[in-house]
Amino acid sequence: MPLIIGVPRETFAGETRVATVPEVVQKLIKQGYAVAVESGAGNLSNISDDEYRAAGAEVVSTADVWAKSDIVFKVRGPNAEEVGLLKQGGTLVSYIWPAQNPELMQQLAAKKATVLAMDSVPRISRAQKMDALSSQANIAGYRAVIEAANAFGRFFTGQITAAGKVPPAKVFVIGAGVAGLAAIGTAANLGAIVRANDTRKEVADQIISMGGEFVPVDYEEDGAGTGGYAKVMSEGYQKAQLEVFAQQAKEVDIIITTALIPGKPAPKLITADMVKSMKAGSVIVDLAAEQGGNCELTVPGEVAVVHGVTIVGYKDLPCRLAKTASTLYATNLFRLSEDLIKTKSVDPAGEGAAAINMNFEDEVVRGTTVINQGEVSWPPPPPKLSAAPAAAPKAAAPAAASHGHGPSTTVSSPARVATMFAVATVLFGLIGYGAPSAFLGHLTVFVLGCFIGYMVVWNVTPALHTPLMSVTNSISSIIVIGALVQVAPPLADGVTRPELLIKVMAAVAIALTAINMFGGFAVTRRMLDMFRKN
Ligand code: NAI
Repeated sequence: MPLIIGVPRETFAGETRVATVPEVVQKLIKQGYAVAVESGAGNLSNISDDEYRAAGAEVVSTADVWAKSDIVFKVRGPNAEEVGLLKQGGTLVSYIWPAQNPELMQQLAAKKATVLAMDSVPRISRAQKMDALSSQANIAGYRAVIEAANAFGRFFTGQITAAGKVPPAKVFVIGAGVAGLAAIGTAANLGAIVRANDTRKEVADQIISMGGEFVPVDYEEDGAGTGGYAKVMSEGYQKAQLEVFAQQAKEVDIIITTALIPGKPAPKLITADMVKSMKAGSVIVDLAAEQGGNCELTVPGEVAVVHGVTIVGYKDLPCRLAKTASTLYATNLFRLSEDLIKTKSVDPAGEGAAAINMNFEDEVVRGTTVINQGEVSWPPPPPKLSAAPAAAPKAAAPAAASHGHGPSTTVSSPARVATMFAVATVLFGLIGYGAPSAFLGHLTVFVLGCFIGYMVVWNVTPALHTPLMSVTNSISSIIVIGALVQVAPPLADGVTRPELLIKVMAAVAIALTAINMFGGFAVTRRMLDMFRKN
């Protein structure tokens, strides 16, 4: 029997999204799940019950969607009533925000539930396809610009017409994470002059690549923290930053703020005085409204007009693009479900029913799981790799003996290296003395292969491992030499000529390998270009 994924209708006021869409229902069914959708769940995303049915889902009542489902997919965390409907020992995947909702965590733990929080997906490259915060923030950044354009009384793009000249709008974006970069791209595409600031210096290039101009703060401190997020800045930096922002506020027409460090209240970066200094008709869109806002005068969830400046504090920007937001969120959930079913095991009862097997060795499943069968497993251990490059050590670490088998930064003593070389030489000598000469040749190639492979992989920074895999894949096309030998004409009479079938197959092998080889190098080049500064 397949596992049943249930998708209830969202009950939170103003929530227009739904946790799955018909295209994704089809994929889930193909993957081996059955899908039950509550009647009317897709209404606010313009998806009818019939569309879900046509995709293969069963459309059921509120009570059934909770009672039937082995796994519940939701957008918002459940309210107390919904927790009551969740099956004892059931699995729930939704936003949870465990730090902000200890009571909800307790209620779910009491239900012996297993809970995967979409807000806790680790921000590592492999988990990007499941990263709902990013997919939704991207929409929020886009929509923030649309909201700003709606409230702003002028064009974004500059125009020279017979009726007169219109200057382009100037947009200042604070915080160039996912939402900020989306806002920069959208505003630049509409023709505005876009500037942006972020405490993490590494994003300067990304701002430029999206069509913006990086506004630096003249203070030597980098804001990169762990896990690709920012850190809280020193008082000195904050003061210098506010001076830069005060200057920008006087010059620009629109400010979009997205600055946030997860788990911390939003930093106040636009003061009441700065708002006052802005031109009448200017607009501020404060994406951090839910965490208190980056602007002192933001009213969360509302639009306020203060000193002639419109301050938009909507907390539901992705809901204002409901169908796109639902589709991207549903795809994030589908990608996560792939990881859950990858570890699918047959029910030990022997009924042949599929069962979810939480693989805690998988960093993504571990990081996302906040409750495992009633045991609170949040917070998870920190991710092993940060998206940000590791800081260079300030001083050389004192040499220490290495006990591990992995790469070591320890400087070996010359005596130790000499001993190792002496042992290796004696070993080679013994093998060379006893073994046939062909074996010695193969062994030498093997040892050199291991050594070069080890040095190549461990000396390449983790961020470049994907292009490394791609280029090694291309190089592995060296097997084409075998095929070339087969199609080549024989060198002298008397040498057996390959049969026609072998020749044809060798030709096909050459064609396929050529795609792998040339395609691989081309893809590697494109990947490396993304890391290169112009
Ligand atoms: P993110 O973590 O990717 O980006 C935040 C950026 O702000 C980072 O680049 C960080 O370096 C920067 N930052 C932090 N402190 C700063 C400071 N003091 N000065 C300048 N930059 C600073 O987050 P993401 O996903 O882009 O989301 C941004 C904001 O948008 C969050 O507050 C999030 O809750 C909010 N959001 C709001 C929605 C809405 O409907 N209003 C919907 C989705 C997200």
